[in-house]
Amino acid sequence: MLAGRRIVLGVTGGVAAYKAAYLARRLTERGAEVRVVMTPAATEFIGTATFAALTGNDPVVDLFSDKDPSPHTSLAAWADVVVVAPATASTLSRLASGESSNALIATLIATTAPVLLAPAMHTEMWEHEATRHNVATLKEWGYHIVEPDSGELAGGDVGVGRLADPDAIVDAIESIVINGPLAGLHVIVTSGGTREAIDPVRYIGNRSSGKMGNAIARVAAARGATVTLVTAADAPDLSGVETVSVESADEMAQAVWGRLEGCDVAVMAAAVADFKPSVQGTTKIKRDSGLPTVSFVPTADVLKGVHESENRPFLVGFAAETGGLEDAAAKVKRKGVDLLVGNDVSRSGSEFGSDTNQVTLFYKDGSSKALPLLDKDDVAKALWDEIVALRGAI
Ligand code: CTP
Repeated sequence: MLAGRRIVLGVTGGVAAYKAAYLARRLTERGAEVRVVMTPAATEFIGTATFAALTGNDPVVDLFSDKDPSPHTSLAAWADVVVVAPATASTLSRLASGESSNALIATLIATTAPVLLAPAMHTEMWEHEATRHNVATLKEWGYHIVEPDSGELAGGDVGVGRLADPDAIVDAIESIVINGPLAGLHVIVTSGGTREAIDPVRYIGNRSSGKMGNAIARVAAARGATVTLVTAADAPDLSGVETVSVESADEMAQAVWGRLEGCDVAVMAAAVADFKPSVQGTTKIKRDSGLPTVSFVPTADVLKGVHESENRPFLVGFAAETGGLEDAAAKVKRKGVDLLVGNDVSRSGSEFGSDTNQVTLFYKDGSSKALPLLDKDDVAKALWDEIVALRGAI
């Protein structure tokens, strides 16, 4: 369940910080990618080298001396889940008052990912009015809390306040993933550029890399959806995603149409050929045979078939344009989609194969919203936020 999930582990300055190393280990053992952000006080209890060795990434401690000019927003955007273990009384207080005074609090305030807090402190501090008030506020805001255990505390005291067992924290993280905002949804995503054969060795294709659709599938799975990715690109290794490899538009159509029953959302991010050679040679066309003439016939329209299906899901189309998005707006109606994602692949940063994309969302009511240039993963997150909001509205 955690394989491939991106988890930011926040470590604060309590003696239980040493248990965060075990937690990091358990998370990586389960296949999660882990990045650590520590408060300066946490480094008094455990070294950064421990987490670097366990996770393969140097922890972020300082907002200003990191090689990344904006480590908090990078971590915030990267995370599927953020967990703070241990969370001291001071960290709970700073978070509840929005006092973004270190890299960890800044990350927590910048992220839209679910956050799990595992408090650990002395009993008196846990039971203090201020802490109770802060925990109540944070719960009200949607933060998940793993309550501390009762047992031996630092200095030989005994009582409530011991960091919850790291395995219980792992279970809580899994439950957040399983019960994510897309839990219960069945999703089909298409990605990549189809290839239309001319003969057994040659094809007509396009430059789509599949990165955008793959990110959409990955984020959906990370948010709890059951995902099928039908891809014409190299099959990505995405845990929790059923991947179906196809080559041509017609194969993609069969793969998608055959899986529509029970599908709640279809996101058609593939660059599908609109036409294919009318005849495909069964043997390689030889140079000596002279210049071939290739004539074309239309391919299956995958999206149209989904739209016209009796199991029509919430339908998201893509429009890869060049030289502006004027044509994209008209496609919402023409294609019968609930949402259209337009991008200009001739623009720098949005080209096929790029890790970033600048998209504009076109809605059924004729309105549109341009998103900034973002990593494709962040585009995918924004898109799912939008789909959830729109599905609620229909
Ligand atoms: N699409 C599809 N099957 C096709 C062609 C396109 O499912 N045979 C889908 C794409 O995955 C995308 C949407 O339709 O989600 C729009 O594709 P696009 O090529 O922009 O649409 P066209 O109507 O073919 O427009 P254009 O004339 O610009 O090519």
